[in-house]
Amino acid sequence: MDNREQQILHSWNENASAWTESVRSHLIESRQVATNKAIIDTILKYNPNNVLDVGCGEGWLVRELFNRGIDATGTDGAAPLIDKAKALGDGSFHVLTYEELGASNVISSINYDAIVFNFALVGENVSELLNSLRKQLSNRGKLIIQTVHPFAVCGDEPYRDGWRVESFANFGSGYKESMPWYFRTVGSWLALVQSARLRIDECLEPIHPVTGRPLSLLLTCSVCL
Ligand SMILES: C[S@@+](CC[C@H](N)C(=O)[O-])C[C@H]1O[C@@H](n2cnc3c(N)ncnc32)[C@H](O)[C@@H]1O
Repeated sequence: MDNREQQILHSWNENASAWTESVRSHLIESRQVATNKAIIDTILKYNPNNVLDVGCGEGWLVRELFNRGIDATGTDGAAPLIDKAKALGDGSFHVLTYEELGASNVISSINYDAIVFNFALVGENVSELLNSLRKQLSNRGKLIIQTVHPFAVCGDEPYRDGWRVESFANFGSGYKESMPWYFRTVGSWLALVQSARLRIDECLEPIHPVTGRPLSLLLTCSVCL
């Protein structure tokens, strides 16, 4: 793991309580008005028996799926977030970094009908991770990625790939560490998925119901044969 990837995980360890409060007190507007429903609806459309939520945070999505009768498992590299998830019970949760996923018997021995990243692909070098998870999809399996829409977060900076910094200023209070994250253009997201030998079945752009601006990019992929 390089320095920035380590700093990403460090920030989630430090910000676990603040993030849990932001999610559970519904402080992130985009999630309330569009993106939570978008990811749930997308997953349910494929009627999965089991789902792996990678970078699950405090576990809200796993709980949503578990309560609909789906065998849902969440993994995250930040132990304090997994502690928060386990404290609420529903679903199963494991502390695993992305690098550790492949070596974990409990995860790698299973094929999933859906593997999901909900705003959890924040680093630069993720092609290999996607490529290895691709092999864990069942025959009808989908790999589903929701990420911030590049148009929504580009701001005044040039529209090109590169590292940026999230201060969490708009997420509520109590955040202790900023987080480096890797900005990708829409074209780069498509190229990333193709580099992992995945085919895009659907590309959605949930929008803000009032402003009409795009909030997220939601890619549903299957294995290229
Ligand atoms: C923006 S949060 C999203 C959490 C959750 N998916 C949700 O929708 O609320 C990003 C998550 O990715 C996790 N994450 C980032 N890099 C990781 C890595 N290399 N290994 C494991 N987890 C990682 C963080 O710990 C954090 O929980």
